Amino acid sequence: MNGDRGLGRDVGRSVRSVRVLGAVRGLQGLRAALRRRRTDAWGLPARGAERARVPGPVGEAEPLPGGGIVRFARSELRVSVSVGGTVFWGWDGAEPLPSYALAGEPPEPDARAVLEPDTDGGWRVVSERVTVAVSRHGAVEVRTPGGVLLRRDLPPRWWEPVAGGPARWVQRSEVPADARFFGLGGRASGPRLRNGTYRLWNTDPKGGFSTGDDPLYITMPVQVVVSDAGTHLAFHDNSWDGRVTVAEGEEGAGSGHDRPGTSEVRMSGGPLRCWVVVGTPARVLHGWAALTGAPALPPAWALGPQHARWGFGSEREVRRVVAGYRERGLPLSAVHLDIDHYDEHRVFTVDRERFPDLPGLAAELREEGVRLVSIVDPGVKAEAGDAVYDSGVAAGAFVRDPRGQEVRGVVWPGECAYPDFTDAGAREWWGGLYEERLAQGFSGFWHDMNEPVSFAPFGDMTLPRSARHALEGRGGDHREAHNVYGLTMARAGYEGLRRLRPDERPFLFTRSGWAGMQRYGGTWSGDVSTGWPGLRASLSLVLGLGLCGVPYSGPDVGGFDGSPSPELFLRWFQLGAWLPLFRTHAAIDAGRREPWEFGPEVLEHARAALVERERMRPYFVTLAQLARLTGAPYVRPVWWGAPDDRALRDCEDAFLLGDALLVAPVLAPGADRRAVRLPRGRWYDTVTEQAYEGPGQVLLDAPMSRVPVLARAGAVVPVRGEEDGALELEVWAPAAGRTGGGLVVRDRGDGWDAAAIERYSTRLVDGRVVVERVTEGGTEEVRGLSVRVRGLA
Ligand code: NOJ
Repeated sequence: MNGDRGLGRDVGRSVRSVRVLGAVRGLQGLRAALRRRRTDAWGLPARGAERARVPGPVGEAEPLPGGGIVRFARSELRVSVSVGGTVFWGWDGAEPLPSYALAGEPPEPDARAVLEPDTDGGWRVVSERVTVAVSRHGAVEVRTPGGVLLRRDLPPRWWEPVAGGPARWVQRSEVPADARFFGLGGRASGPRLRNGTYRLWNTDPKGGFSTGDDPLYITMPVQVVVSDAGTHLAFHDNSWDGRVTVAEGEEGAGSGHDRPGTSEVRMSGGPLRCWVVVGTPARVLHGWAALTGAPALPPAWALGPQHARWGFGSEREVRRVVAGYRERGLPLSAVHLDIDHYDEHRVFTVDRERFPDLPGLAAELREEGVRLVSIVDPGVKAEAGDAVYDSGVAAGAFVRDPRGQEVRGVVWPGECAYPDFTDAGAREWWGGLYEERLAQGFSGFWHDMNEPVSFAPFGDMTLPRSARHALEGRGGDHREAHNVYGLTMARAGYEGLRRLRPDERPFLFTRSGWAGMQRYGGTWSGDVSTGWPGLRASLSLVLGLGLCGVPYSGPDVGGFDGSPSPELFLRWFQLGAWLPLFRTHAAIDAGRREPWEFGPEVLEHARAALVERERMRPYFVTLAQLARLTGAPYVRPVWWGAPDDRALRDCEDAFLLGDALLVAPVLAPGADRRAVRLPRGRWYDTVTEQAYEGPGQVLLDAPMSRVPVLARAGAVVPVRGEEDGALELEVWAPAAGRTGGGLVVRDRGDGWDAAAIERYSTRLVDGRVVVERVTEGGTEEVRGLSVRVRGLA
């Protein structure tokens, strides 16, 4: 095919230019790494001698609304319980603010929760949802109202440099012996966190990562702990470099006694303060979203299938790929342009030779329902005369070292300066730059390299730790700003887009981020390695991030590097089709990822996955809205509704999509069946309509044509009607004697119109399924919508 030869030429040229550039950048990277070492040697002298400290014995306490301050010999502890039952505690005067995670003011303290003396000489705060007990030596226990222990944070220990400077600290916590740990951001080997140490330092793992690689691009001191006693989330609000060591406990360990699970948080500086949210998983995520902000709502088109590629060498190639989808009748919602459409890889520019008319291309694609999404890197080519650089210099936007010199790193365009997104002025300047992107016709934005990365042959691939940051006027260095760099860049882009296009919801997703990033958009896997472990890691990331409050994400379908086998590509595609961000992407020197490149059989099955995804679009729209309204992620661990089912807590190869569906992807080669662990209740195989009863494990067919997807009996799933595309309710028959229901939120366009939740109920009457709309006054007949009942034997 001619087009293919053209494509080969384009990719070949791009790969060659990257290799040539690679050598130059190698030298620049070496120079930058040496510079970084020198800068830090000067700017961050050795810590020298340190003094250790613990709180010491308890003294007086001062009641305040929701709790109070408990004084110890060598520190003080502030405890506060909010109206919703969320607990805050902070040592050494640490308050909830300032915080990069919180969405605004901290929650109202619960005026009815009072600090009172405890029987053992300590203090306690009793509230409706939770009891907090502070021991005489400074342990903090969080208990259910019934008195069951959820978490015990032992007295902390600090190490203060004698010559002054930030104190390091460590805190050990205990959780019930049966507890499982989740979270800590996006981790590849989970979602259940294995015993071991996890670093809190956002990191580009250099090339493809797999299940063994840690840390990755998004780390967060957020633990979700699930045990028979209940579920809780603990967030150490501190953005410094740190490490969390988790160890699951053991019931009846030594001489019949339980050994509790433990977590040990070690931070290299920053405040010692923590939020604890308790309740059911749904309540915990709701509380977390209330604290850190509702997830941004993606426009409906961002819930459709998307195709990206590093190495789209020209407009012609973009057209060819889009035509490939069109000619084969494959739905496509967006195409993503990587750095190769930039002029010499410079952000906010266009290579006019290869992309002479991007606005024209964008308009043409838009006609057929395909949007353009642009990559945006934070590194700005440090060269006088570069318009973006010059304007950044004029705005005083770039990060400087302790001597006041601009910090230079190396990224794709060569030597770069880095905007300081922790500075409101720099954010405003940066946000305005999206005007150029909007004028080029882009509808969405893909933030990359924002850990931030500076290529280096040794040491950390990032900025010097001594680099100065505004930190909203407080002033500080990269040790504190590093982990919030991606988050604050997302804020800059999001707020800029809101100013530039106030009537449209921004679509943005970012590789790096931190607690609260969901306010601005979603994320994706980053460079997940092509291979079966990479496929597994993809699911682990999406599940873990969802539990940390970031509901919109998905992997590079097919993996970032190399060439997947047809089988692996298809299984990845079938998983991706059920995840919020459904996007194929690959590196410049990787094999193709278009579904037709893997033979007719894969194409046919990929088409089925695409068609089903499109049919499910109204369900995804509903889940996006519900994530915004309730904080519940679209993709949830199977224990979501039954955290007391221990077998479910250990199940990592399936997930719930909303309340209605259970998806069991195939994550291993050669499978044509797989075991699926069901939560309690009746579940229907959505293809065969065969009913299965949970809890328990069943063996289901998983031929190449599909992965098992089950629907909960009684569920109402909004789908696109097959004939006319109109909204239709797919209703799964409730089991005898049971009722069911579901929520539907319709798409209200790409603006800000408030969403209306429609509530439906289902029940079985004389072997017939009755579906009704639930209104304030009761129930009424479903009108103006077709209802399709399934699963009735
Ligand atoms: C790294 C990103 O993770 C990847 O998705 C992208 O293709 C490359 N940078 C090039 O921009």
